[in-house]
Parts: sequence; C-alpha cells; structure tokens
Amino acid sequence: MHSFDVVIVGAGAAGLFCAGVAGQLGLKVLVIDHSEKVAEKIRISGGGRSNFTNVDVTAANFLSENPRFAKSALSRYTPADFIGLVKKHNIAFHEKHKGQLFCDRSAEDLIAMLLAECAAGGVERWQPCSVKNIRFLAKPQVLASSPHGQCASSYEIESDRGAIHCGAVVIATGGLSIPKIGATDFGYRVAKQFDLPLVTPRPALVPLTFDEAAWAPFAQLSGLSLPVDIATGAKKASMAFREDLLFTHRGLSGPGVLQISSYWAEGTPIRLNLAPGTDLSKHLSEAKATSRKRIANELAGLVPSRLADTWVEQGATWGHDWQRPVNEASDKALNALAEHLSRWELTPTGTEGYRKAEVTGGGVDTKVLSSQTLESRQPGLFFIGEVVDVTGWLGGYNFQWAWASGYACAHGL
Ligand code: FDA
Repeated sequence: MHSFDVVIVGAGAAGLFCAGVAGQLGLKVLVIDHSEKVAEKIRISGGGRSNFTNVDVTAANFLSENPRFAKSALSRYTPADFIGLVKKHNIAFHEKHKGQLFCDRSAEDLIAMLLAECAAGGVERWQPCSVKNIRFLAKPQVLASSPHGQCASSYEIESDRGAIHCGAVVIATGGLSIPKIGATDFGYRVAKQFDLPLVTPRPALVPLTFDEAAWAPFAQLSGLSLPVDIATGAKKASMAFREDLLFTHRGLSGPGVLQISSYWAEGTPIRLNLAPGTDLSKHLSEAKATSRKRIANELAGLVPSRLADTWVEQGATWGHDWQRPVNEASDKALNALAEHLSRWELTPTGTEGYRKAEVTGGGVDTKVLSSQTLESRQPGLFFIGEVVDVTGWLGGYNFQWAWASGYACAHGL
C-alpha cells in the first residue's frame, strides 16, 4: 500500500499548480493522470502561447450559480502573484488585447515552470494511471508531514498502479471540452458518488450554429471577421460584449461569440450591431444627400464589402430594391437597412458542442464547497479548477481560476 498526505487526480493547470504549492508547504503529494502527457490544455492554449492570466481579474469575469463564490480564492492568489512566479522562472511574456498575458515563446515554458515547482515540492507523479475507485475510510489518520499534524479524513484509492492510502483527495480533472485530448466526466462521477450536486454541465466559450437553410446566405461569408457589439438575455439580465465576430460555414464564432455563448440560453436570440460606434441611420441619410453610389458600395465604407454585398442581396427579403443608388432610396428604406444592420436579431439552433468548446460551464455546485479551501461537504474531498461551477470569460480568466483555486486548496489541506 502506498501512502500520501494528498492525492491529486488530474495533472492539468489546477492539479499541477496545487501540487507544487502543497508539496512546498511540506505535504507528501501524489499527482495521477490517465494521459501520458501533462497539461495538454495549457500546451494548446492561446494558439500555443497560452493566455495564462489577465491583468484585470474580478469575480465579475466569471459565471457561476453563486457569482460571489470565486471572490475569496481570486483575492488570495491574484494575477500579480502568478506574474511574479512567471518572472521568477524567467519566462518572457507580453500583453495583448484587453489585459491578456501570453508567453513570448511557448506554452511549454509554463508547463516546465509548473513541473519545476512540483519538483521543488517533492511531488510524485504517476502517468498514465487510472483511478478505479475512491473509498472513504472515515477513520482519522495521523500524518506526520501534515502541517496540521492530523487529517480529519482518510481515503483508499484503487489505481491501476496499486492501492493508495491518503488523508485527502483533490479532484482536478477539468471539464468535458475537447474529449480527444483526455477530457472525461470523472470529476462529476466522483461528485455523484459522494452525493454532491452538480450544476448541469454545458459547452461554454463555444461557436454557435444555425439552421442550415436559414444560414445558407451567410455561409459564403465564412472566414470574414469584424468587430461587433453582441448581446443576449432579457433587458435586466442581458450581457453584452464588443469583440470580433467570425462567420463560419455553420454559424458564428470569434471572441465576441465565444464570450456571449457562455450566457446564451437555448431557444433565445442573440443581438448584433454589425457597425458598432456608428450612427448608421445618420450616415445613410447624409450619404443620400451627397452620394450617387450603390447602397452596397456606401455600406462598404462601414462594414467589410463582402458583408455589404451579402446584406444587400438579402434586401429582397425585406421588400426593398437595394441595387439602386443611395440617393434614390426612400428614407424609410434606408432607416430599415440601418435598423437591420445595427439590430440583427437571430436565434442559434445550438452550439458546436464539447468538440469545439474552450470550457465547460456548470460543474460541481459551489453550494457544497468551501470558498476558502474548495473542500466539499464530504470531509477531505476537494474540487479545483474547471470541474467546479466557476467559468471564466475568454482572456486568461480560466487559467487564473485554476491557479487561484489550486492555491486556496493547497493552503486548506
Ligand atoms: P485541465 O483540463 O487543464 O486538466 C485536467 C486534467 O485531468 C488533464 O490532464 C486530464 O488528462 C486529466 N483527467 C481527465 N480525466 C481524468 C481521469 N478520468 N483520470 C485521470 N486524469 C484525468 N484558458 C485560459 O485562461 N487561457 C487560454 O488561452 C485558454 N485557451 C484554451 C484553448 C483551448 C483549445 C481550450 C480547450 C481551453 C483553453 N482554455 C484557456 C481553458 C483552460 O485550458 C482550462 O480552463 C484549464 O485548463 C482548466 O484547468 P483544469 O486543471 O481544471 O483542467
């Protein structure tokens, strides 16, 4: 029988970070992962350069049934703390759009940093290794290396490398997105085993799809990107972003759509302003007084010309002849055009699912977790990272939650 103070299941962002901190606090730590490689999601994140945090993080950048839950952990381990660690390891980085920090060279630098931190804490790692069963022994166990001297709980883990006895178990197995690189529902199954409720998992930060026939006129715009205002939700609960949108063959993607997808409820519309920051009505009525250009050409000064052309071709459905010069169009028609471009309301039929989702919304219900330590109401069983019902915006927030929840947990073991 192997013996450890704590076993962490999942060698991803949260698991590795928590392991390094816990090991350096003096605990005997084992990390188990069923994959051969560690931290595959860090490796592929940010186009291979990992958007590892955001300089500006608050609980408002996260979705959860309890919007205040993440506050405590986020304030105890901040972006500045993680940036300090990155600098200590001499990893060069730069700021991109809206406070997002990326490695200059490669996400591999970040993985090497996490592994070095684990090595400094004497963390043992078993990979590939599968956990077959976790059993609660309910008998307190005295652990010499624990800073608290005694763990209130004790577990036996059956793995394909033998049985393990430990004082605490940390589940850091992430969510369901990108199954082909090792995502599983393991964390949710463990929660169910110990009667811990889940907020139904759903794909988040995910492209949206539309009915094939309804989308046909726009499918030709695939690859086109433009800045938009995008919103969803009824007035009081509405959420809005100004970000880029990308047309795809099946629907919409790009940062703005990924952000709004986390807030989108099935069967409800999204609203788009395709020419944000422009008073389209005013622009078109001024153009009417001075220009003899075709309406599509006039529009092409405000939105990409491919979009202007497609929009004008769609004009027939609105009952107007958009091929005419702008000075021949009626005010009513130009106002209708402005209205359609600045308030395009459309209802997605679905999402591209876990295959394309950057994260999983929902997860282990925070009602049964301590916001201070991430311990569940099942003594000695902790959940950290994406498996918890805390989902960050696009822009480095999900990694910051992985670091912050891992840190809070390590200090609560
Ligand atoms: P993570 O998924 O990192 O790790 C879980 C680990 O558990 C994996 O190693 C897995 O193999 C293991 N595991 C799963 N099931 C298991 C089982 N049954 N037994 C044993 N081990 C098991 N975020 C961000 O802030 N900035 C970014 O740039 C990006 N970019 C990005 C790109 C893409 C393509 C994706 C898919 C995601 C992102 N993200 C992101 C999100 C970010 O990657 C994610 O939120 C964190 O990796 C979550 O960290 P966790 O440690 O919770 O899970």
